[in-house]
Amino acid sequence: MSERKKHIIITGASKGFGRDLSVHLAESGTVLHLVARSDMSDQVHELEARGAEVHAWRQDLTLTGELNDFLAGIAATISRQDTGYLGLVNNAGMIEPVGPAGKYDYQDYKKNLEINFVAPLLLAHAFIQQFQAWSPVKRVVMISSGAAGKPYHGWSHYCSTKAGVDMFVRTIGIEQEKQRYPVEIMAFNPGRIGTDMQKTIRETSEEDFPMVHDFISAYREGKIGDSSEIAGGLARLMMAEFFPFGEVLSKRDL
Ligand SMILES: NC(=O)c1ccc[n+]([C@@H]2O[C@H](COP(=O)([O-])OP(=O)(O)OC[C@H]3O[C@@H](n4cnc5c(N)ncnc54)[C@H](OP(=O)(O)O)[C@@H]3O)[C@@H](O)[C@H]2O)c1
Repeated sequence: MSERKKHIIITGASKGFGRDLSVHLAESGTVLHLVARSDMSDQVHELEARGAEVHAWRQDLTLTGELNDFLAGIAATISRQDTGYLGLVNNAGMIEPVGPAGKYDYQDYKKNLEINFVAPLLLAHAFIQQFQAWSPVKRVVMISSGAAGKPYHGWSHYCSTKAGVDMFVRTIGIEQEKQRYPVEIMAFNPGRIGTDMQKTIRETSEEDFPMVHDFISAYREGKIGDSSEIAGGLARLMMAEFFPFGEVLSKRDL
């Protein structure tokens, strides 16, 4: 792959899987654009010590009307002639509010749809628009979930949004294969991983989420995947010669 810079945008980079992925991607020649609402100063220093150039962008991704300008702001910092690789990882996500549709606050339900579905699609759309005509390798990863293929009582928003993300990837896949300089896109389901999101799931009530005991047992029995190990596998795939364009993969495919 090219000696020129690799620019990679990671949403939800401040903790959990996104943070682990940023560590695995941090090396000399890579420019990481970390996106989250939290302060990421410590993480920036840690990744710089690994040789990467790092920019922290604080953005609430539920403010979906701002995302075209937000992506354009990042793109404005990227020089076309010095760039050999462009990446976008739509990783930010949330599970709350857990409970049957109609039970909890309308605005909270809407936020879930925005962070899990509207924001990642809009960012991917803006990324394609900005960079379609650029010749370097361009790769988008949409972080999906096993919930995309299975209904869980209490997760109507989460299951639907992740299923929608998978279909977006399949659709963009057939569109982009016709392009001169395609944006290669895939969805990736990391499986259950030991992050704050899993902790939130284990703390929900049985009434709102009848499967809660299954998640607690899996945790106690050590059946939760290692976030850093799986992030490492995804980082390797993102840099590999072959990238599974238009497909939905899981950790078993790594
Ligand atoms: N954990 C699992 O078992 C599991 C399983 C399958 C799929 N996934 C998927 O993996 C991805 C990462 O999940 P995780 O477990 O690492 O979650 P996590 O530990 O809860 O981290 C979520 C990340 O998203 C960011 N985020 C949340 N709301 C945001 C907002 N409104 N604007 C901007 N950033 C926001 C958070 O940053 P700030 O709070 O700093 O904004 C944080 O960096 C998600 O897409 C999730 O659906 C997770």
